[in-house]
Order: sequence, then structure tokens, then C-alpha cells
Amino acid sequence: MKLSDKVALVTGSARGLGWQIVQAFAEEGARIASCDLAQSDVDQAVAKLGLPPARVLGIKADVTSERDVNDLFCRTLEKFTRLDVLVNNAGFAWPRGGPVNLEVAETPLDVWLKILDTNLNGTFLCSREALKIMRPQGHGTIINISSPQGKKGKLLRGAYSAAKFGVAGLTQVLALHSRQSRCAHAQSGNCPRLRCLPCLG
Ligand SMILES: NC(=O)c1ccc[n+]([C@@H]2O[C@H](COP(=O)([O-])OP(=O)(O)OC[C@H]3O[C@@H](n4cnc5c(N)ncnc54)[C@H](O)[C@@H]3O)[C@@H](O)[C@H]2O)c1
Repeated sequence: MKLSDKVALVTGSARGLGWQIVQAFAEEGARIASCDLAQSDVDQAVAKLGLPPARVLGIKADVTSERDVNDLFCRTLEKFTRLDVLVNNAGFAWPRGGPVNLEVAETPLDVWLKILDTNLNGTFLCSREALKIMRPQGHGTIINISSPQGKKGKLLRGAYSAAKFGVAGLTQVLALHSRQSRCAHAQSGNCPRLRCLPCLG
């Protein structure tokens, strides 16, 4: 198994791609820290993984909250004593129940801010805490989930494209510190498992 005893924290992992990532990591032997917005969703996801309690930790955390993120990383370190992999997955193209297609000229500021806050600020807050653990450890990998719209702007997706371009920029800066940061462009539609395309270089 490729990840035996490695500790991986995946944000927004109660469902969707995050859930597929924790499943894949668990199958490869990793110990898992899973977080999402609602404790009940996290508990259900953790139960479905079927791992012994020593190998899994489920935490309610909003990646846009500095306090939640600090608590998430403290508790992960407390339980597992290290962190090998962070996957910044929590994100969305439009807020749940919100407008899907928006011209820039019609985009309300609160929608714009919500999309940037989760996709970009959340990635920054979690990466910052991960670095505080990984640097003294001397190793660690940060994987940021981006999108094709983080490489090429798409009509009616101004906020999401801006946020994911920001994620790509942050990933490149992280990579200047360490060659272990990668930006994964999740592809919709064709993936029973995540396709990871390195975007550096
Ligand atoms: N699914 C796709 O087709 C696709 C395509 C390209 C990129 N992506 C990217 O992949 C990632 C996951 O997308 P998905 O389709 O699985 O989404 P999803 O909505 O199915 O799952 C996202 C999860 O993140 C959680 N989440 C949202 N905001 C959060 C926050 N502030 N703090 C913690 N958790 C939060 C949600 O509750 C949910 O469980 C996102 O970054 C998205 O931009 C997805």
C-alpha cells in the first residue's frame, strides 16, 4: 500500500470528490482526517469508511473560519502527531441553492465573496497551518484542487475562475518554497476517481 501510516487531511470530504479522495487514501493505508461543514455529514462519511478509530478523525470545520481551521489542524496533530498530506478540496463553483450562471455585471458581491472565501481563502488558511506542521517535520505534500476554469476563464463563471486562478497562483508560490505542492484540476463528468494534472512548470 502506497500510503501506509501516512496521515492525510482532506477538506470538504463528506461527499463528492473529497469523499472519493478519502476513500482512495484509506484503501492505500493512510490515516484520515476528514472535515466538512456539518458534524452529522462528517460522522456519516467516517462511519462509511469503516476504519478502526485509531485510523480516522472526523471534524466539523468551515475552511473559511480561521478559528475552525486552527482547531482542525491542532486536533489532527494531537491525534496523529504528524501530517503528511493536505488536500485542499472544499470548494464550489456557485453557493448551494444560489445562482449557477452569472454575468460578471450581474454578480452580487456576497456571492463573489463566498466563492472566493471558500475556494481561495480556505486553501490559504489550511495551507498556512499545514506548513507550520510540515516544515518542522521536514516533509509533507499539499494538493490543491483547482479546475479547468482555473486555467482558462469561462463565461458566466467569473468568481469561480478568479478563485481557481488564485488557487493556481498560490500553489505556484508554495512550490517555490517546496517542490511538493501540486495543483490538481478536477475534471467533471468523466471521473469515477479524481484525475490529477500537475499544473506547475
Ligand atoms: N465535481 C466537479 O465536476 C468538479 C470539477 C472541477 C473542480 N471541482 C472542484 O473539486 C472540489 C470538490 O468539488 P465537488 O464537486 O466534489 O463538490 P461537492 O459540493 O460535491 O462537495 C464539496 C464538499 O465541500 C464541503 N464544503 C463546502 N464549503 C466548505 C467549507 N467552507 N468548509 C468545509 N467544507 C466545505 C461541502 O459541504 C461538500 O461536502 C471543489 O474544489 C471544486 O471546485 C469539481
